[in-house]
Parts: sequence; structure tokens; C-alpha cells
Amino acid sequence: MLIALGVTGGIGAYKAVEVARGLQKRGHEVVAVMTPSATRFVGAITFEAITKRRVITDQFEPGANADIEHIALASTIDLLVIAPATANLIGKLANGIADDFLSTLYLATRAPVLIAPAMNTQMFAHEAVRRNLETLEARGVRFVDPGEGYLACGWIGKGRLAEPDDIVAAAEAILRPAGPLRDRRVLVTAGPTYEDFDPVRYIGNRSSGRMGFAIAAEAARRGAEVTLVAGPTTIETPAVNEVVRVRGATEMHRAVLARADRMHVVVMAAAVADYAPAERASRKLHKDDDTMTLVLKKTPDILADLGKRRAASSEGPLLVGFAAETEDVVAHATAKRARKHADLMVANDVSRSDAGFEVEDNAVTIVGPSGVESLPLQSKARVASAILDRVEQLLVRGVRL
Ligand code: PMT
Repeated sequence: MLIALGVTGGIGAYKAVEVARGLQKRGHEVVAVMTPSATRFVGAITFEAITKRRVITDQFEPGANADIEHIALASTIDLLVIAPATANLIGKLANGIADDFLSTLYLATRAPVLIAPAMNTQMFAHEAVRRNLETLEARGVRFVDPGEGYLACGWIGKGRLAEPDDIVAAAEAILRPAGPLRDRRVLVTAGPTYEDFDPVRYIGNRSSGRMGFAIAAEAARRGAEVTLVAGPTTIETPAVNEVVRVRGATEMHRAVLARADRMHVVVMAAAVADYAPAERASRKLHKDDDTMTLVLKKTPDILADLGKRRAASSEGPLLVGFAAETEDVVAHATAKRARKHADLMVANDVSRSDAGFEVEDNAVTIVGPSGVESLPLQSKARVASAILDRVEQLLVRGVRL
């Protein structure tokens, strides 16, 4: 979604950079709108670098009014967040004064508005400010209350800009109220595992974590409490409740099994090594011979262990596995689903170069209790959404295996 982030001239303006990042981490596009005084606290270039968009600082900037996107902002944004909002800006909004881009945008947009006020304690308590806040509240504007503590002006009390995480959470609550996975706990694994055989070398695989991260982000978007157990990856992690970093399959097994009992859903999107070196040398192995033999041993199968527990007691989380295959994809996935007691098995044809490992898109076939369903090539975000649609249906119907 597209969010306009209004920044006004207060000491908390630097925290707005974190708000922009937090909103982006949740998958939103952010366009920063700074009042002239905000630019005295933080440079527009900082927001430009973070948002990757031109920052709007002046309504009458030459060229600004020829820019369609800029003019259309009022009708294209999904939310206007103003953080920090000074007493001056709040006064202008309450009284319909439009003398800069931000106050004009407020009057022109019909998108919901979220304001995070920040000012001196006495100013915040002043009758004039209280009345302006009440006026805005009566118009449906939402607020993230300022925090208490030491203020930059030396006072102690209420007035400090709310924490960026709280502002981002409030924005999310407006954009995505009570999702269908609300009150559900979802654990998602993602990325590869690295199996070390000496201090500098390991056996790994090409998983980037993109597929699992997309599922974790989508589950969070749908209101779930999300735990992400991730192997070594380099892409940015989504904003979820808990991120647990692991390296090898045994560590991932431990992390997942320790948490699985309190989950409603476990999605195993990680590409877990099936075998790991039987021994790990304490010193770097040297190339003394022309060939080298590594003895491998089976790793614990996380999904199969969860499946066994569920098959034995018919309790435990709903299980979604992934099957990375290069031939007879659906047949192998169907067999894996039965063997590992998974509710859904998502089959990936990893012989394709446009889907599966590393790339942004995926084309999967979902094997579930009601049959086999092939989905077209699409973004991993859309695949994640399709998988979670099936998960929700199963949760509602209480269907297992
Ligand atoms: O990360 P990306 O670059 O976005 O790529 C996505 C992906 C291709 C890695 C992903 O979509 C995928 O297919 N993940 C599963 C890869 C895999 O390990 O498949 P498998 O067929 O070997 O395993 C079957 C299932 O058992 C998987 O859910 C796997 O997580 C699980 N497993 C496997 C071995 C093991 N020791 N423990 C397990 O739990």
C-alpha cells in the first residue's frame, strides 16, 4: 500500500526515518512529505535514500506541479501518517489552514489519517492543543499518543514522539484490521541450512529465504502472531513477532520443536539439508590428496518428526511442507505428504529457472486433502497468499490429513 509520511519540524523528526523503514518492512511504499521546518532537523536526502522516492518539501518547488504522481498523491495514498506532528501543524489541520504541501494534502485526501503528536509537555496539555486534537478526533483522525519521559527541552512529562514500532503497528492496524489469522500462531521456516565440515567450509543450498519470508510477511499481514525460524540468508527479514536465526539442520530442528506445540500452523519452507558431515574438523582441512571423501549422516527430519507427533496424538499444529523436486514433482510431493503426515504439501519444480530457488517468482502445485491444485507462475507474495488461503480454509473446517 502507498503511505504518505508527513514529517514536521520537531526533534523527533529523526525517528520518522525509522517509521519509514518499519512501514517498508511491512511491504508498504512510502512517500515522505516534509514541512520546510522538518528539513532543518533531518535532511530530505535521508528520506529519499530510504524511500527511494523524491521527497516533497515544497508545494511551489519548480517542476513539482508538472509531476502527475505528485499531484495525484491525495487520491492515490492509502494512509497519511504524520510523525512527528507539531502543535503548529495540528492547529492548522484542525482549522483547515492549507499553507504548505502537508496541510494541503490533509485537506485534499480522503485516506485515513494517523497522527503522532510530539511537543513540550505544557504545550501538549494546553487547552488550545487539546481542543484541536478533539476536533481532529471527531473527524475520525487516529492518534498514537506521545510517550512520557525526558524531553529534548529539558522537561519531564508527556510529549515525546511515540516509538517508531508503535507508530508502524498503529498504521498496520488501520490498513489491515483484524485479519483472518488473528489469534493464530504461525511458525514459518525459511532459507537454507549450512552444514559445517571444517571452520571455513560447509554444505549448503541455493535457498534465498524469499518464499518463507513471503509466507511469514503474509501471515503477519493477516493478523497472525508469527515466528520465523531462518537459516543463513542475506535478504531483509520481514517484520514479524519473533525471528530465530539458526545455521544447521539440527539447530533448526531444536528451534522448531521447542516452539511447535504452541503453534496453530507450521510452514516448513526452509530447504533443510537431508545429510550433514558426520564430523566437523576443528582445523581447516588441507588439500593433501587429489580426492577427498566426506562421510555424511542423515539430519533429523523436522517435518516428519512434527508429523509423527501429530499422527500419534492427533494434536499439534496444522502442517504445511514444501517439496523441491526436479522430476515427477506431483507424485513425489504426494508421497512426501503421506510419509511426513503434512496437511498440505507445496510442490516446487526446481528444475525451472524462472521459479523455485532464489528468484522472485514461484509456480507451485498444492497437494492437500481435497486434491491437487496447480497455480501459475506468480510472485512469491502471491503464492504465499494462495497457500495461506488454503490454510485458513483448513483451519475453519478443522480438516486434518
Ligand atoms: O528460499 P527461496 O530461494 O525462495 O526458494 C524456495 C524453496 C525452493 C527453498 C522452497 O520453496 C522449497 O521448496 N522449500 C523446501 C525445500 C526442501 O527441503 O524440500 P524437500 O523436498 O527436501 O523437503 C520436504 C519438506 O521436508 C520441506 O518442507 C522441508 O522443509 C522438510 N524437511 C526436509 C529435510 C529435513 N531434514 N527436515 C525437514 O523438515
